[in-house]
Amino acid sequence: MPAHIGIIMDGNGRWATRHGMPRAVGHERGVEALRRTVKAAQKFGLEYLTVYSFSTENWRRPMAEVSALFALLKTFVKQDLARLKREGVCISVFGTREGLPDDVRALLEKAVRETADNTAFHLGIAFNYGGREEIVRATRKIADEVRRGKIDPTDITEHVMCEALDTAHYPNPDLIIRTGEEHRLSNFLVWQAAYAELVFLDVLWPDFGEDGLLSAIENFASRERRFGGLKTGAA
Ligand code: FPP
Repeated sequence: MPAHIGIIMDGNGRWATRHGMPRAVGHERGVEALRRTVKAAQKFGLEYLTVYSFSTENWRRPMAEVSALFALLKTFVKQDLARLKREGVCISVFGTREGLPDDVRALLEKAVRETADNTAFHLGIAFNYGGREEIVRATRKIADEVRRGKIDPTDITEHVMCEALDTAHYPNPDLIIRTGEEHRLSNFLVWQAAYAELVFLDVLWPDFGEDGLLSAIENFASRERRFGGLKTGAA
């Protein structure tokens, strides 16, 4: 069983187009798929789940679609926060707050604050997130420590870098699932995913749920992870 799964929820727009509906409906169905997936992950005993909800590159979409995604996030927090709190879910948000409307930022902060003491399940929401942007912000934090004389450049290790990332309190993802027929990471957890197993699914995100999560976990369980070492018994 993986401890941490990351999911690139791709294919909402194509799902809508294929069903003759506006893209916004695809995103709405995407939120339902997210609810199903969180529920299934809790049921399977997963500890950490991170979902890619809005990337720093998504700003290139028409403003109407960007606004629709912000509205969906707000609705999600308003409708689901009380239940998630009751279920012991701790919410973290990864990404930069820069550029986000004040109301979106405030709701994200409320979700983080009000669930901070929960430990039953960890839900990471990558929102306004880009892996390279995260690494740049982490590097700035470390450079500032060096400038203030708190640490020496020779003290900078992989561990120091991990601690400066938004995901400092999360283990690295063991498994990354991408739905939607594309086979790439698209700037998702680029540092953290160095040794993650990758599972690409042809299913479009609004059609994803418990069965898809289970088959990805089974696929993961059948793989041998060597982290650069040798196959067990090969030495
Ligand atoms: C990819 O589909 C999905 C996104 C860009 C956003 C993911 C958002 C959700 C699942 C719903 C929102 C959830 C929250 C919590 C706000 P796409 O539009 O890139 O699909 P396409 O590649 O088929 O066009």
